[in-house]
Amino acid sequence: AARSDYRQGVPLPLIAAHRGANEFLPEHSLAAFRQAIVEGADAFEFDLRLTADGHLVLHHDRTVKRTAGAKGAVSDLTLAELRELNFAYRHPDCAGNPEAERIPTLEDLFGLVTDSGKDVKLLIEAKHPSKFGPRLELRLWETLRRWPGLDVTVMSFSRAALKTWRGLDADTPLVWIFEYPFRRPPEGVQILSSRVDYVESTPDFVERSHEAGYQVYTWTVNDAETARRMAALGVDLVFTDRPAAIRGTLAG
Ligand code: G3P
Ligand code: CA
Repeated sequence: AARSDYRQGVPLPLIAAHRGANEFLPEHSLAAFRQAIVEGADAFEFDLRLTADGHLVLHHDRTVKRTAGAKGAVSDLTLAELRELNFAYRHPDCAGNPEAERIPTLEDLFGLVTDSGKDVKLLIEAKHPSKFGPRLELRLWETLRRWPGLDVTVMSFSRAALKTWRGLDADTPLVWIFEYPFRRPPEGVQILSSRVDYVESTPDFVERSHEAGYQVYTWTVNDAETARRMAALGVDLVFTDRPAAIRGTLAG
């Protein structure tokens, strides 16, 4: 079917690799982001956490139990301690590949993107160990000053994090990620991001958001039918663990 079957001339959603192209590779690993480049992802989505010694690393969960089979919260471990762990322990086929096994820092990822020469959007989610207050946002801001020219968007579930960011930088596009119920978006955000099931169960959400001037992103879109439905609703970007497969579906 032609793309106009479900979008009627409206551009297709951008494809964001959710924690990298992690269908077959450890989430948030450099290997997964390298694969996302190979698969032609328009954007990378990743979660940021602060280590005990103040480094920004890519990691979703509060602890390393699921990802590395080890004990402790990211925020209680130093970068050196995290670097001792194997984040590919559930992926025996990745044994011996440091880009799959090692937790990346934010700057490791920036290096990969810069070296690739690709123009990829970086959708950076600030996760929030509250004990740090705004330290994560400050660290991110300092880091970005050393890496000018990247296409950066900042995202968070946390209204406080988005407010802090807007105080640091007036120009970065901001995404408010929300779960039910939908409430008034925080000041200064341009993009709303919600779970697929919210978008599906609220059919006029995309249209109303567009009319109010917001773009709409949605997660996580891993199957063809959902991808087509999101495209038909006019969603601007989908987060997926399988960028090439979803692009193939939408282009089909
Ligand atoms: O940004 C969309 C999505 O990544 C938010 O949920 O839990 O995967 O970080 P989560
Ligand atoms: Ca995320």
